[in-house]
Amino acid sequence: MTFPTNIITNSPAETEEIGKELAKMLSNDVDAPRFVAMYGDLGVGKTAFVRGFCSDICAGATVKSPTFALVNEYKCQTSNKIKKVCHFDMYRIVDEDDLYSIGFYDYLRDDILCIAEWCELIPYALPEKYIRVEITKQDLENNRNISIELIY
Ligand SMILES: Nc1ncnc2c1ncn2[C@@H]1O[C@H](COP(=O)(O)OP(=O)(O)O)[C@@H](O)[C@H]1O
Ligand SMILES: [Mg+2]
Repeated sequence: MTFPTNIITNSPAETEEIGKELAKMLSNDVDAPRFVAMYGDLGVGKTAFVRGFCSDICAGATVKSPTFALVNEYKCQTSNKIKKVCHFDMYRIVDEDDLYSIGFYDYLRDDILCIAEWCELIPYALPEKYIRVEITKQDLENNRNISIELIY
């Protein structure tokens, strides 16, 4: 996978596959960003993408939308430096106090891969270097456009 890239998927399984590929790539590259910022409307497939993201590096983890918990943590089984994936849902974040209350900034570390839904709501909190993933619906019901960019 090279950046920027644009991919059309035709099913949740195909979206998961893209997430899986991205996670493998990030976890195998010590210089890659440790934060994935996701953008896109409700029901577009962000959680599906995260499910795929975790499917290989956190095999066996149950990925669910952390809407109420705000952050879910999944343990990584890979032998490299990544210990866990932290999955955020920023939908209910009103201001930076909310981010402090979940300890958001403490998660920005080399040994944690963070992936966050609804980054539209936290533009001020993004790290210097991150992967931007935007999912949009297309004309056909199960088609999605996934754009992936490296921001730094
Ligand atoms: N190509 C696709 N990629 C991802 N999800 C899709 C796709 N086509 C249909 N869907 C459906 O869209 C919904 C996405 O839900 P979810 O991943 O929870 O979205 P979000 O987290 O963005 O609110 C699911 O019901 C899924 O079955
Ligand atoms: Mg979701």
